[in-house]
Amino acid sequence: SAAVKGGYETFMDKEIHDQPAAVADTLRGRVDERGEIQLDEMRIDPAVLRSVDKIIVIACGTAAYAGHVAKYAIEHWCRVPVEIELAHEFRYRDAVVSEKTLTVAISQSGETMDTIQAIRHAREQGSRVLAIVNTYGSTIAREADAVLYTHAGPEVAVASTKAFLAQITACYLLGLYLAQLRGHKWPDEVADYLAKLGEMPDKVQWILDEQESAVRALGAELADRSSFLFLGRHVGFPVALEGALKLKELAYVHAEGFAAGELKHGPIALVEEGLPVFVIVPTPRRPTLHDKVLSNIQEIRARGARTIVVAEEGDDAVDAFADHIIRIPATPTLMAPLLTVVPLQIFAAALAGAKGLDIDQPRNLAKSVTVE
Ligand code: G6P
Repeated sequence: SAAVKGGYETFMDKEIHDQPAAVADTLRGRVDERGEIQLDEMRIDPAVLRSVDKIIVIACGTAAYAGHVAKYAIEHWCRVPVEIELAHEFRYRDAVVSEKTLTVAISQSGETMDTIQAIRHAREQGSRVLAIVNTYGSTIAREADAVLYTHAGPEVAVASTKAFLAQITACYLLGLYLAQLRGHKWPDEVADYLAKLGEMPDKVQWILDEQESAVRALGAELADRSSFLFLGRHVGFPVALEGALKLKELAYVHAEGFAAGELKHGPIALVEEGLPVFVIVPTPRRPTLHDKVLSNIQEIRARGARTIVVAEEGDDAVDAFADHIIRIPATPTLMAPLLTVVPLQIFAAALAGAKGLDIDQPRNLAKSVTVE
């Protein structure tokens, strides 16, 4: 009924609008008045965490893309190598795991069978397992050495939205906590990023207030298309993968995400007249990233692509090459995924809605995959 959906037509719609609260609630109570991160639930000895020489993130689906985003942040903050691996791949190869490996399992449900098997496999090899989970008392939460809960609230729609933002937020808390513990980029850079994280709920809300109706209209307008590309660089790369996944799951259309730098190594051959291509543009304050993506937009536009550009407010350089511009508030590069993914979620839901599809329960999919 409409009541359980908070007045929205679908759970997914509600959950997209829950996102500012999901981020705020995941941060709440975890930073003390001195600006230090306190993770009471981190029942892993600080000495062990200081000695960690590798982090392996295991997850499936959208949770794995949250881990992929986190890799960029944690490596930057902690200078510890982070591998991100799909749970079902990790499990059946001879991965190098030791007592100095921290395994981070990310799961909304805490019941994904592949992820459960993967954490058992990691523990057998002496690795500590930290779970980033949304569901209290779930199997992964119970089997892990420690749990950092995402406080997104129950997620009902099969396609994950608010859990993804909460997972990135929790991973960032973990990364900044490890930096604090290991005395890396601490206190100044850690404090600065914590302050920036605290601003994210308002920035997500700005996108919902200012961009949603235009993005929805675009979704309805492109409902007859059968193919889409998503292009991103750096943290925009996993966001492009997630944008494509949402469209596949919800609208049953071919959608492919790729790293913008790969364009010339294959994907550009797919570009033809009128093909809609989403491009996630890094902040112009990182010109080394920004300018390369800008030239990618020019290259695909010259070959007839319909360019849908997600760019920061005030980034006028994109104007000349964009058929549609979706704006996000200015934000540091590492924080941008919490914003850039939101219009992609809205777009996929709107397009599926225009096709008359079941947005909350797409065909063939389950909310939680509890078989191998
Ligand atoms: C399924 C769901 C996705 C989810 C993935 C991982 O594929 O449809 O939305 O991202 O499982 O689930 P988990 O509960 O482990 O995060």
